[in-house]
Amino acid sequence: MGKLEGKVALITGAGSGIGAATARLMAKEGAKIAITGVPAEGVYAVAKELTDAGHNAMGIPTDVSKADQVETAVAQTVEQFGSLDILVPNAGIQMHNEDANLHTLPEDVWDHTHDINYRGVYLTTKYGLAQMVKQNTGGAVVIVASITALTGSSRNVAYMSGKHGLIGLSRHIAVHYAEHRIRCNSVCPGALERTPNHDQHPDPHGRDNRLRESIPLGRVGVPEDIAPMVTFLATPDASYATGANFVVDGGLTVT
Ligand SMILES: NC(=O)c1ccc[n+]([C@@H]2O[C@H](COP(=O)([O-])OP(=O)(O)OC[C@H]3O[C@@H](n4cnc5c(N)ncnc54)[C@H](O)[C@@H]3O)[C@@H](O)[C@H]2O)c1
Repeated sequence: MGKLEGKVALITGAGSGIGAATARLMAKEGAKIAITGVPAEGVYAVAKELTDAGHNAMGIPTDVSKADQVETAVAQTVEQFGSLDILVPNAGIQMHNEDANLHTLPEDVWDHTHDINYRGVYLTTKYGLAQMVKQNTGGAVVIVASITALTGSSRNVAYMSGKHGLIGLSRHIAVHYAEHRIRCNSVCPGALERTPNHDQHPDPHGRDNRLRESIPLGRVGVPEDIAPMVTFLATPDASYATGANFVVDGGLTVT
């Protein structure tokens, strides 16, 4: 029997990358999965892949920056699968052309990044937690942040500051919702390849070559390196873990 048998998970940004890899792993552990995110094609493709393999999954195209869409996604998940036990706010963007100077960064770049990466996680947890509290059966929230949440950087200030915010949000949820037996942890992935975001980088191979030299494990990660940690934190094996942040980066941040 899988470790998530009978559980229902909602994952945002699950049409690709870490979200899709996590959906595959959680489905193997027996969870029923709501695959949410944009674009709709990616979301439906992952849901179809899982249902074709005999798992319980449903695609719900959802823009995490839109409150009504997030609220509807939670409602549809509960209507279809009967509960919501695991929430994985994972959707995120990184605008590679982000101006390095805060004082010249266009406000719309700041707003767009925060709308998805920060407000999107706020909305996902807001509506997801409302359901979990109502159910009164406990739950697990695993927020996908980034190693950029842990250090300062002279670049990507909108992305980095939003990811820092997620750590605070995660800690708040852990403390405030413990009385409801809801655990919340965050995962900080290091640099990954084989994601659409990576492919949009102006020089993905140059970036990977530079990174490889600084990563003690000697390779850039892939979504399948992150999904096991996210999945573990949702299982009963992690029942004493809450309010913590789990770094999965090949050792990059300790060098
Ligand atoms: N790839 C990396 O190097 C890396 C490193 C650290 C952290 N992360 C974080 O991991 C998470 C997953 O990213 P990934 O690496 O799997 O890349 P990805 O681009 O494959 O995944 C992000 C997903 O979010 C979706 N998305 C974008 N805007 C959305 C919106 N408004 N509403 C709903 N979904 C939306 C994208 O379409 C995509 O499916 C992100 O939060 C990212 O910041 C990635």
